Amino acid sequence: MDDLRETAVLPHLQTKWLGQYYRYFAEIGSTNDALKNEVAQLPSGSLFLTDFQSKGRGRLNRVWQAPPQTCLLMSLLLKLDWAVEQGQWVTMMVSLAVAEAIEAATDLRVGLKWPNDVLIDIAGVWHKCCGILLEGTVGENGRFSHIILGMGLNVNIPAEQLPEAVTPATSLLAATGEIVPRLPLLLDILARLESWLNVAQSPYKQWQERLVILGEEVTVSGNGRSPIKGIAEGVNSWGHLLVRQVDGVLAPIAAGDVTLRDHS
Ligand code: BTN
Repeated sequence: MDDLRETAVLPHLQTKWLGQYYRYFAEIGSTNDALKNEVAQLPSGSLFLTDFQSKGRGRLNRVWQAPPQTCLLMSLLLKLDWAVEQGQWVTMMVSLAVAEAIEAATDLRVGLKWPNDVLIDIAGVWHKCCGILLEGTVGENGRFSHIILGMGLNVNIPAEQLPEAVTPATSLLAATGEIVPRLPLLLDILARLESWLNVAQSPYKQWQERLVILGEEVTVSGNGRSPIKGIAEGVNSWGHLLVRQVDGVLAPIAAGDVTLRDHS
């Protein structure tokens, strides 16, 4: 098994602040929940990582499950003085960091699905390998007091143990046929993410280049409003999806879930 305990990770971190406070759990309910309980005492950049979650949570109250010791399951605490509108920047930055790190470690082609899924191209079909769960607290001034950035990356889940999902799931092992060492991948993701965060500018251009629904006919539902249909033309600097509707109006959509035409 590849070791992700403090003694294995801390000496190799290439970051200045991200992950420098690092805590490993062999098993936990949810790293997002555990980090949330200690927000006041912990420095920005704190990282909780586990080898198994019994109550892992996904977006939209879904469960997030992964067999023990196969994945990167982690949460980062970010105390950035950023406006609430910049929250999507963090999601874009971590998905870009993950995409770049996977492509550096494997021969896989990685795409992104709005708002926050990382996908792998397997024989022309996009499969989800990583999900991101961003939970923040915003003060009366409209700025974050903190952000908890949860990430689950399917690294070495055997194909037969992958979860059933609307977007078919995969892992790096299932996609490449080879075990991918988790430690170098973790170190690379953290280094890339720290660089993105330090720049503190919208990465929407690089993010849009990987958007797999670009030019596709989509339906965007959720957020308590009627579904919006049209062609996905890209994202704006806030990371809002730009959908050209049949009447020609370009709708910027801040939050929701995308389905492609003729797909569930
Ligand atoms: C999604 O629905 O796509 C987001 C999944 C996020 C899962 C990660 S795993 C580590 C962290 N702890 C949780 O309970 N959830 C996130």
